[in-house]
Amino acid sequence: MFPYKTSLDIDRKSKEPLFLQLTNQFIHLIKEGKIPSGTKLIGTRSLAELLQVHRKTVVACYEELAMQGWVETIPKKGTFIPENLPLLKSEDYRKTKISESIEKIGFSFYKTTLPEKRVERKVDWMYINDGVSDGRLTPTDDLAKIYRRIAAKKNNIEHLGYISTQGNKQLRNVLANYLNETRGLSITKDHILITRGSQMGIWLSSQLLLKKEDIIVVGETNYASADITFLHQKAKILRIPVDENGICTVALEKICQSQNIKAVYVTSHHHHPTTVTLSAERRIYLLNLAKTYGFAIIEDDYDYDFNYNHAPILPLASHDVHNNVIYIGSVCKTVAPVFRVGYLIADKEFVNEASKIRGFIDRQGDALQELTFAEFIKSGDLDRHIRKVLKVYEKRRDLFCNLLKEELSDYFSFTKPKGGMAVWLTLNKKYTWEQVSSVARIYKLEIGDTTRYDLAKTNHNSIRMGFATFNEDELKELIKRIKLTMEEVVNQEKFA
Ligand SMILES: Cc1ncc(COP(=O)(O)O)c(C=O)c1O
Repeated sequence: MFPYKTSLDIDRKSKEPLFLQLTNQFIHLIKEGKIPSGTKLIGTRSLAELLQVHRKTVVACYEELAMQGWVETIPKKGTFIPENLPLLKSEDYRKTKISESIEKIGFSFYKTTLPEKRVERKVDWMYINDGVSDGRLTPTDDLAKIYRRIAAKKNNIEHLGYISTQGNKQLRNVLANYLNETRGLSITKDHILITRGSQMGIWLSSQLLLKKEDIIVVGETNYASADITFLHQKAKILRIPVDENGICTVALEKICQSQNIKAVYVTSHHHHPTTVTLSAERRIYLLNLAKTYGFAIIEDDYDYDFNYNHAPILPLASHDVHNNVIYIGSVCKTVAPVFRVGYLIADKEFVNEASKIRGFIDRQGDALQELTFAEFIKSGDLDRHIRKVLKVYEKRRDLFCNLLKEELSDYFSFTKPKGGMAVWLTLNKKYTWEQVSSVARIYKLEIGDTTRYDLAKTNHNSIRMGFATFNEDELKELIKRIKLTMEEVVNQEKFA
């Protein structure tokens, strides 16, 4: 007889009902050929006794198996595995299992060169980030209330279906008004494509602007995900220096004089990763160059809302009289990364083409969430939220910078950022970030992949450290762990 007792394993603590656990295990055994076609299954009463479960559990399992076609019940004879069941040979089955993790799978495919974006968290560990908001300050209750009300409204049923790939009309109207008022744009809803965040805007722009060998110019240090997006498109990246006023437009002009460039990518507020703001003079210079040489400016204004020392500077898009700018933003930084609501703003024809591409990768956005944000913005809640968190983050910036200065100035140098959620921290050239990251793990501190800040390999020895996610106590703890790390690094150097 088939060894049911040793082959079937029941987990009584699992949330999965016992009959389903049994059913799934039976299916595996049948698929593997371990219980071959034609086999008569043990009676329900006997199996229940063997496994110490209620007979009803086994009956439910057999019924489920019969419903799925894995067994057939012949009255007065019993339950059988059907003849001619198309099975995987046991050998093949084993191969498939292994291939999931280590060997070739049963078909060929094109591997990407994209890096992994892993977010795995361990308890008690601290994770350095690029500058991310604090989820504890996210107005989830307010947003949930709005969402619930919208979802429950009977005449909102139309939003549950297939809708425009360009995004919800109400949100586009609200956003057009909001951005016209706050950022000096002059747009209508037709200039807006609602995206799932800024990254989608960068990707869609890249699809429409760049083909193999087309030139895009970026800062010598630049937002790595943007670089990777452009490289994925097989574009050629040229880099220009970045100083305390942002990307150097004179260097850009020199390139334009000798080469045909398709686009410039810029994080006007605040340059990613160094955190500086593109000066007003360079903004105008850049717009004039775009007009003269006919290139697109991808303006990724991910950090517009976070300015501590001055009011935000109007985006390039607000002076864009010649239609050169593709303006990209989202609520993902301002409210929380989980709310994938962003926008791409450009000439209507460009928006239309971008919407078409979007339709084939994502079909459409979440209309209920988009309506929620339409209301959140229109009611003034978004502005209130920004004002509230700005005060908190400013305090955190001050504390973090003070602690860095007091406790860690032997190892690091930095300029206090005027805005944003991160500090650009330069490590004393005696040490490397690779060394520091590896030692930091001893103190349950994960610094992550630091090479992404220097794809151009200029050897600046700097990384971004986000402060906004951590409250006062956590910032103190963070500094403590960094200090312990550095002391250990020094120690290791001594004995090296
Ligand atoms: C400069 C920059 N652009 C774009 C993004 C992507 O933002 P989103 O979450 O809106 O896709 C980020 C996220 O960290 C960023 O730092």
